[in-house]
Amino acid sequence: MESFLNVQDLGDLQSALAEAREIKQDRFKYVEMGKNKTILLVFFNNSLRTRLSTQKAAQNLGMNVIVLDVNAGAWKLETGHGVIMDGDKSEHILEAIPVMASYCDIIGIRSFAGLADRQYDYSETIYHQFLKYSGKPVFAMETATVHPLQAFADLITIEEYKTTPRPKVVLTWAPHPKPLPQAVPDSFAQWMNAADVDLVITHPAGYELDPKFTGDAHIEYNQLKAFEDADFIYAKNWSCPGVTYPEKYGQILHDYHTMMDWTVSSRQMAVTNHGRFMHCLPVRRGMIVTDEVIESPDSLVIPEAANREISATVVLRHILAAL
Ligand code: CP
Repeated sequence: MESFLNVQDLGDLQSALAEAREIKQDRFKYVEMGKNKTILLVFFNNSLRTRLSTQKAAQNLGMNVIVLDVNAGAWKLETGHGVIMDGDKSEHILEAIPVMASYCDIIGIRSFAGLADRQYDYSETIYHQFLKYSGKPVFAMETATVHPLQAFADLITIEEYKTTPRPKVVLTWAPHPKPLPQAVPDSFAQWMNAADVDLVITHPAGYELDPKFTGDAHIEYNQLKAFEDADFIYAKNWSCPGVTYPEKYGQILHDYHTMMDWTVSSRQMAVTNHGRFMHCLPVRRGMIVTDEVIESPDSLVIPEAANREISATVVLRHILAAL
């Protein structure tokens, strides 16, 4: 596997889930695979879970790990082409990428959407520059439009906790004070569409996600109706994806104070089928979800985060196998 952005990149999904179960039984089963291999994790943005779980996964596979926080200690990188570099950016990404690649065998990239230029974000410009100029396998640790390591961990968690062969899974928008990217809901929709679940997406009008990720998922604008008989509730905020309102890409469409009835509380959870609550974390309590719901026995946020180690171990194993 030369690139990991989408669910299709991993091959057969049921086989990947079986591998996840195998690795959960014995995390070090493939510790010899990564011997004398080096992985470089490049962070343009903050992280807790991705940073730790991906390092742990690489260690499970016996790899050496280097972590670079581009904005803390490295030269500030220019990403634009044809720019006169007379500002505070000292190094161009087109030199930095091959230099970074010379020290490693695999590169992970975290580079969030800028939310200013939809075309730039949705063409995954930074990720594809790494792919083109590194000559090394590259994988997404949340890029402009996708977060596949998270979505895979979410699916592993749903498989572990489901009580029916084909559960009803609801992806719900929830309020947030700042505009956030669409990477988590995009990937969640894509992976759920590839899995054996019934996916319903609920959000206020105007927040329609890109159909290339949502596919045939049912969109229900009435959140309470969407929650009826749901087995899993996956909450996330996202800014305007620019599908219905291209000119509002990356913006918050309403004052969040007026949207607080979308916060997931026991009121909505009461109509579910004893639904389990999920969120990728970090989460803002009182905005996305109430304390009561996230602290309830039906909350899966901690096992979901723990499964990030498993999803990353499976993905890195696939990349190592193709080196
Ligand atoms: N869910 C997730 O990716 O968490 P971090 O942003 O802390 O890595």
